Amino acid sequence: MTDLLTPESLARPSTFANPDAVYDLYSRLRRESPLARAEPRGYRPFWVMTRYEDIVAVERNAELYAAGERTVLLPEKVEAIYEAKYGDRNGVKPLTHMDGAYHRAHRSVTMDWFGAKNLRKFEPTIATIAKEFVDRMEDLGGECDFSADVAYWFPLRVVMTLMGVPKEDEAHVLRLTQRLFSPADKDLKTQAGEKVASVPGVSRDVFAEFGDYYRDLTEDRRKNPRDDIISTIANGVVNGCPMAEREMTSYYVIASTAGHDTTAASIGGGLLGLLQSPDEMEKLRADTGLLGLAAEEFVRWTAPVKHFMRTPKEDVDWHGTTVKAGEAIMLCYPSACRDETIFPDGDKFLVDRKSNPAHLAFGNGPHFCLGKFLATMEIKAFYAELLPRLKHIELAGDPTYIESTFVSGLKTLPVRVRF
Ligand code: HEM
Repeated sequence: MTDLLTPESLARPSTFANPDAVYDLYSRLRRESPLARAEPRGYRPFWVMTRYEDIVAVERNAELYAAGERTVLLPEKVEAIYEAKYGDRNGVKPLTHMDGAYHRAHRSVTMDWFGAKNLRKFEPTIATIAKEFVDRMEDLGGECDFSADVAYWFPLRVVMTLMGVPKEDEAHVLRLTQRLFSPADKDLKTQAGEKVASVPGVSRDVFAEFGDYYRDLTEDRRKNPRDDIISTIANGVVNGCPMAEREMTSYYVIASTAGHDTTAASIGGGLLGLLQSPDEMEKLRADTGLLGLAAEEFVRWTAPVKHFMRTPKEDVDWHGTTVKAGEAIMLCYPSACRDETIFPDGDKFLVDRKSNPAHLAFGNGPHFCLGKFLATMEIKAFYAELLPRLKHIELAGDPTYIESTFVSGLKTLPVRVRF
């Protein structure tokens, strides 16, 4: 029997290894304490917000609630290192950490590229990559770890292709990408099967390495622009000038990382949902026209991004409690995604759920996920390839989850499969 979680538990990566307990905490907080105080050791205190309507109201009022003050939860020690090195406690400066006109100007550099109109032309490329990964699953011969062997790699390959990273450099960028997320989880492996934490150089500054890597490519794409994300960022103009180096490196980093663990978690978690609900599996196999709704349900039900934070510029009142100017609020997206006032039977996985366009797993307001269309396109492409080819699939062991307070989903999902 595990101890009951508290708001402080949300600062402990290992908490997220047990999603049922976390959802139980969210549900208690929504009911009894929709704005809760957390004072975990080693972290500055923060507030925890869990109700759907409250989170939407905060996200939409970007004038009052800053994203860039304290964007994600970091240990005080790490904040101190960043402050000494970069002059602010967030460290990096991607879109998620910007506010106001500065954010809008940077977001507009890639907004059209990530729009449906542009991305539709990559549908055949993504379908080809999906086929490659389902082939790989078939080649594994009857048993595989769907998360670690398949779901984890497919979105990486897609994003590397769309970024325009040369094929021979993919392994290097994949390794940098992996080191960036979930550093608390010691079991994460590279594609070659090494543990990430044991890869030489893991303690070096990953951002500096990203910067070194993308410098030459920036030069190249300024001279020879192509239809890829690197070219769009390298030639991006903000208020009439090229982007500053730190902003540009951060942009490359967010573009190459934000769509990786997140999409993988939804693809892996979606299969777990289907395996645990055979009726839903049958429904989807019988009508792949439901894939659009199902992809949204995969993302709502898995809600891989566990939080972002916002900081009010003035004192604000929530449910009779004052949050002082400068005190950060953690927005718990997975909680909002199961808020019973919006999602009846929110714990249930329903491939044809109709209320899904409103889910908050992609956030809301001016920072709404830029890669939403790409992520759902990938999920649909993967399952459009997998489902018709499956003869039988079943769980072959207990799934495990990544230990991270920020992006977490399945780490392993053993399955037995026949094609
Ligand atoms: C922002 C979730 C896939 C790129 C965000 C935010 C969330 C999120 C919660 C913050 C929204 C907010 O503050 O309101 C997800 C999930 C994904 C996913 C759950 C997959 C299932 C992707 C993909 C890409 C991407 C595929 C692109 C390759 C971005 C970027 C931002 C962002 C650039 C920053 C937007 C801004 O601050 O203006 N995402 N994301 N995401 N996402 Fe995603």
